[in-house]
Amino acid sequence: MPISLDYALAMSDGVGPEGGLTDAELDGLAADRFRQAHAGVRARVDGGELGFWKLPTERAVLGEVARVRDALADSVSDVLVLGIGGSSLGTRAMRDALTAPISTAGARLHLPDNSDPWLLSHLLERLEPARTAALVISKSGGTVETAAQLVIVRDWLERAVGREAMAEHMVAITDPNKGGLRALADAQGWPTLPIPANVGGRFSILTGVGLLPAALCGVDCEGLLDGAAAMAERCTSPSLRDNPAGIVAAVHYLHDTLKGRNIHVMMPYSDRLRAFAAWYVQLWAESLGKRFDRAGERVECGPTPLTAVGATDQHAQVQLFMEGPRDKLVTFLAIEDGERDLTVPESQGSTSYLSGTKLSALLDAERVGTTEALASDGRPSLTITVPRLNARALGELFFLYEAATALSGELYGIDAFDQPGVELGKRLAFGLLGRDGYEEAASEIEDRLAKRPTRYRV
Ligand code: PA5
Repeated sequence: MPISLDYALAMSDGVGPEGGLTDAELDGLAADRFRQAHAGVRARVDGGELGFWKLPTERAVLGEVARVRDALADSVSDVLVLGIGGSSLGTRAMRDALTAPISTAGARLHLPDNSDPWLLSHLLERLEPARTAALVISKSGGTVETAAQLVIVRDWLERAVGREAMAEHMVAITDPNKGGLRALADAQGWPTLPIPANVGGRFSILTGVGLLPAALCGVDCEGLLDGAAAMAERCTSPSLRDNPAGIVAAVHYLHDTLKGRNIHVMMPYSDRLRAFAAWYVQLWAESLGKRFDRAGERVECGPTPLTAVGATDQHAQVQLFMEGPRDKLVTFLAIEDGERDLTVPESQGSTSYLSGTKLSALLDAERVGTTEALASDGRPSLTITVPRLNARALGELFFLYEAATALSGELYGIDAFDQPGVELGKRLAFGLLGRDGYEEAASEIEDRLAKRPTRYRV
């Protein structure tokens, strides 16, 4: 059974005229802007620019992934995934959704993606190098956080296993032809997997970036691709009402631009999809937050994505969603069959009403209660129902949001596939680190720091 999307409560029929969109608004967009957006994405896919769209059907990668997995030492039980942003968030989402928290099957994946030394230093103290592999993942091959971790981990591994055995413990996943990581891996003879040149970091989960970690921890890679392929098929429809990514893009775009709902909340009622929501945040934010449109006009547009988790956030953010500014559109993610359950035993007194209740039923009742409570006050939402959270369903979800992001970029008229806004901060940080070639950035930031007024400190 495929995942389904219900957007009734994003429409005025479901939440009233203030809260929802009219059919005329949606159909007006369908006739005009969506048609163009759809054609724009198709042209970029057919022209080979948007490589992510074709990944689900390009199965040669599975053989390459198996070859690299088999090249690793048989003793490997722990895998350090060294990457950040698009080189890590999808893998975390995959791991958390599809592997058990205390799993004995497959390798354990660790994702110390930040430069914060806390997690990595603990891991290096606890893990046995002889039983550990490091997957270094970087599309550009030069990301500073990943480069620093690579050098630390390589040193840690090499001192334990020796230089000759390093190719059984290190894998590089990077651009097929260029970048520092590609050059290093080739020089060292480490196994590598390519991130196709036309696939950007945050769209790369269905390349070796996500598939090798998936294979190592026993996830069904074919299932991930099958689900994504089935969703790609659905998202190819030029009819907005039949196109799930089109609906996600159009409903969010119209709520943002017509109703001022520019905070887009992803709220799974499942711990297993918590990291998926974080992956979505990066995808939506980095792709859609742009200063200029594609004609070069200053637009400074972009919805703000937010994660929430049910039922946890009913005790944290839902108060704000219910009574705060009417600037949010919530997407609830529901899992129909959670595979595991616990039933509350017979009990007396104040908890007797829970006797015999399944935790899954409690979670579901809380989700429906929250959805309807929001709707009763004209606060809109969408609900995606996942019949069962397996590799196939996760593949569907990944592709749905990648396609929706591409279509949204067209609707906003911006380039969803670059991220120029992160460059200045990086340049200034390199200046502070004294990196060669960043002398100008160093004086710029020193100057800025020196000029900062000091009277505002307490
Ligand atoms: O989506 C993107 O392109 C970014 O978020 C990158 O994934 C992130 O900056 C890491 O870059 P790289 O994979 O080049 O190390």
